[in-house]
Amino acid sequence: MNDDIYRPGLEGVIAGETAISAISDGLRYRGYSIEDLAANTSFEEVAYLILRGDLPNAEQFHQFRQRLSAVQVDDQILNIIAQLPNGTPLMDVLRTGTSLLSHWETDVTDNGRDANLNKSERLLSQLPILLSARYRYEQGLSAIPPDSKKSLAENLLLMLHGETPDPSHVRAMDISLILYAEHEYNASTFTSRVVCSTLSDMHSSITAAIGALKGPLHGGANERVMEVLEDVGSPGRAESWVRDALARKVRIMGFGHRVYKTGDPRAQLLKNWCVKLATKEHHRDMEKMADIIEQAVTGEKGLPPNLDWPSARLYHYMGLPVPLYTPLFVLSRVVGWAAHVIEQLENNRLIRPRSRYTGPDHRDVISLSER
Ligand code: SDX
Repeated sequence: MNDDIYRPGLEGVIAGETAISAISDGLRYRGYSIEDLAANTSFEEVAYLILRGDLPNAEQFHQFRQRLSAVQVDDQILNIIAQLPNGTPLMDVLRTGTSLLSHWETDVTDNGRDANLNKSERLLSQLPILLSARYRYEQGLSAIPPDSKKSLAENLLLMLHGETPDPSHVRAMDISLILYAEHEYNASTFTSRVVCSTLSDMHSSITAAIGALKGPLHGGANERVMEVLEDVGSPGRAESWVRDALARKVRIMGFGHRVYKTGDPRAQLLKNWCVKLATKEHHRDMEKMADIIEQAVTGEKGLPPNLDWPSARLYHYMGLPVPLYTPLFVLSRVVGWAAHVIEQLENNRLIRPRSRYTGPDHRDVISLSER
């Protein structure tokens, strides 16, 4: 056994195989490019593709949408969510909520493919209901039930705001959900595979993945991108702000990537939508400031933006508050996590790497009375 291979953070290590997505030559889900999917499908079609391996035909899509719209969240769960302490971060609400949902599931420990596909579809529908309910409870408002005739993206905006959303916001949200859905062995997805490799259950794997995504080096970055934009404040301050931040070795949120070193293809797709919505919603100044920051970071450090850099602005232009941004990532990535759990279980081997010991040399115990 060759035990001298050590890569901090497992950088560049092939830790498994997957047929779900590839990121070496652009980003493809089950062989389809994200550019093709973003131009020609909806998030629900992409969710079906990622979970089941193929795009649905019309009948399969109709049945899938019917299953999703029939899903409910037990009132007892909503009551518990409502009673969480004020100020509970919405990412923690989703982590707790996923755990809660498992207690009302009848097949939690069934790791069969069909059972896990059914649980994945239920989570896909339940998490937006949980998130929007808590978001409204915090404002002293009651939850709004989903409309079975509407898409997930449209329902999400309806349940959050309580009014019919602008069609351009719906399509922008749908695109962002498509682009956030899956990304190979990123930290939260790898977390879900480690958990289910012990033959634990889908809900435990998704709960753990939410915990991993919360971190600012991963999913949490999109909320901190808004802090960058607010801190810079105006296009005129952008270059000096970037130079100062880089001089202080500050990690500028929304830039850099462990795998994409010449650019995140998702970022360009979302930027196009940022420009559209910035024009429509009168945020061209922020868009201009973002461009200057992007040129400065790329110029000074050679770091291209990742998808969190445009996604934060896109959600801001839709009038969505920052604490919702990483939770929106969860609502999409839950399909990627679930697909990897199902794939891991199809050809499972307990994930258990080795470590290199750096502690004290061998030593003998001295009794307590003499220590
Ligand atoms: C996501 O893995 C995935 O697929 C994740 C994701 C997905 O879809 O699941 O794509 C989603 O998590 C996107 C990334 C969101 N995170 C951020 O935007 C946080 C800011 N970015 C960084 O912290 C960083 O770029 C990482 C964590 C994303 C990747 O870092 P690495 O691969 O560990 O790179 P590194 O820390 O070794 O940095 C290499 C150099 C260093 O400079 P030197 O010390 O060599 O001089 O680049 C610098 C770093 O300081 N650097 C940055 C930087 N990112 C790297 N400097 C300033 N700002 C940054 N953002």
